[in-house]
Amino acid sequence: MTSEEKQKIAFFLDTAEDVLRDGHRKDRPDYLFIDDSPTPDHASHIEKTPESSGEKKDISMAPEFLAESPRLDGLELLAAEIHKCAACQLCSTRTKAVPGEGVTNPLVIVIGEAPGADEDRTGQPFVGRAGQLLDKMLAAIDLSRETNCFIANMLKCRPPENRDPRPAEISACVPFLDRQIDLLRPRAILCVGRVAMHGLLHTTEVIGKAHGQWTLYRNIPFFPIYHPSAILRDDSLRRPTWEDLKLFRAKVNEIV
Ligand code: URA
Repeated sequence: MTSEEKQKIAFFLDTAEDVLRDGHRKDRPDYLFIDDSPTPDHASHIEKTPESSGEKKDISMAPEFLAESPRLDGLELLAAEIHKCAACQLCSTRTKAVPGEGVTNPLVIVIGEAPGADEDRTGQPFVGRAGQLLDKMLAAIDLSRETNCFIANMLKCRPPENRDPRPAEISACVPFLDRQIDLLRPRAILCVGRVAMHGLLHTTEVIGKAHGQWTLYRNIPFFPIYHPSAILRDDSLRRPTWEDLKLFRAKVNEIV
């Protein structure tokens, strides 16, 4: 308690006593009030905040209450786990793990195969040539990682020389993707390429047949398309992919 608070209480008690005695006392005692200091036990629990220390608060960072926790917290914790993961041999050859990026309340999650050289270097998904084409494909149907998508991969680490993922790598890594999907709760999944489709659906159906066909993954509408790397190698895949993208967008519009 502060000396000022104690003084007020004493004044109140003295006045009450005067009233009871029916008059002012001439011999009111002189008090000396000093501030209480916190007991050591108590003090050890009091954190010095910028306000209490008189420091200026830094408001250049978003305040904590703006965070979309627990979704954002969950995604950040998961990304931290992915960066430390050593569940398969790819951890020994990766430069950076690539958890994924995008908005935290996406309409759509885009799932590719695995990071390539550019992604391994930067830690971001789909930033090389295939990624640039993917961004254009998404933009054509009003989707982007900045506004309404989250971009992820089935594997979070690059397989050396971009070889196909091995079954042990897929089973070690897919639980991370599943946890991302559960946290993000997208309205639809756009699966990019044969390898991710095979790994997630445990099918061997050829992508030439499966592309543009809806199915479910974790109970979420799932739509496979050709991989942008395949489109870069084969121009004839552009037209069917555009038809698929239009179908995909129409169904997403129906869902929301
Ligand atoms: N190819 C993928 O499947 N994923 C990436 O992130 C980049 C290229």
